[in-house]
Amino acid sequence: MQKELKIITIDGPGGAGKGTIAAMLSQKYGLFLLDSGALYRILALHVMQLGHNITDEKQVYHDAKNIKISFKQENSKVISYLNGVDVSIKIRNEDCAKNASIIAGYKTIREILLQKQRDFASPPGVVADGRDMGSVVFSQAKYKIFITATIMVRAKRRQKQLQNQGENVNIVSLCKQIEERDYRDKNRAVSPLKPATDAFIIDTSAMTIKEVFKKAQNFIEAK
Ligand code: DC
Repeated sequence: MQKELKIITIDGPGGAGKGTIAAMLSQKYGLFLLDSGALYRILALHVMQLGHNITDEKQVYHDAKNIKISFKQENSKVISYLNGVDVSIKIRNEDCAKNASIIAGYKTIREILLQKQRDFASPPGVVADGRDMGSVVFSQAKYKIFITATIMVRAKRRQKQLQNQGENVNIVSLCKQIEERDYRDKNRAVSPLKPATDAFIIDTSAMTIKEVFKKAQNFIEAK
């Protein structure tokens, strides 16, 4: 008999800690790791590098048709490639985040990227992090978690992340950027950011990573 695929979805807004928890869960259960946001970021970087207009959906669609996106998982780390070039660090800046959020509103782009995301669900299973993992991409998943936190907490976490990469960003402008991105992600017509109806919600504002991980683990193991 075929063993059931273990699919764990981790959705939520930027800076809530999805990536960290998804990586920890993939290690814990020996599952593949899908950072779906990286797909949107890689495509956004490609469009920017070509000097094309990010608000021109037709052009972005054409660029998306001619791009090779690939990943290599090394334990809990995933290396992202754009046409064979490692862009893991380049895609992490706020410009890429903003443009990824813009192209993520295009139905044609979401359709192209859908199968690519579903391909990650191969044995033994996957931990998928993003905005619509539980609501659309893996709506059949048994374990759905939605991670959130206040804007200020998320901005502070993002600031620390960026500082570790040698980038200094003002907290007020970071809050504004996060707010704008949240608004776009929540209000788009296709696959908006929202918890799946059967998702387990964790507000991580006053929690440590260890506590969030434990809560997620308890939820998974109790199901
Ligand atoms: O998770 P992230 O910050 O890397 O995501 C970057 C942007 O990509 C985010 O603002 C919206 C988009 N995105 C999406 O629309 N759907 C996903 N499943 C993942 C990301």
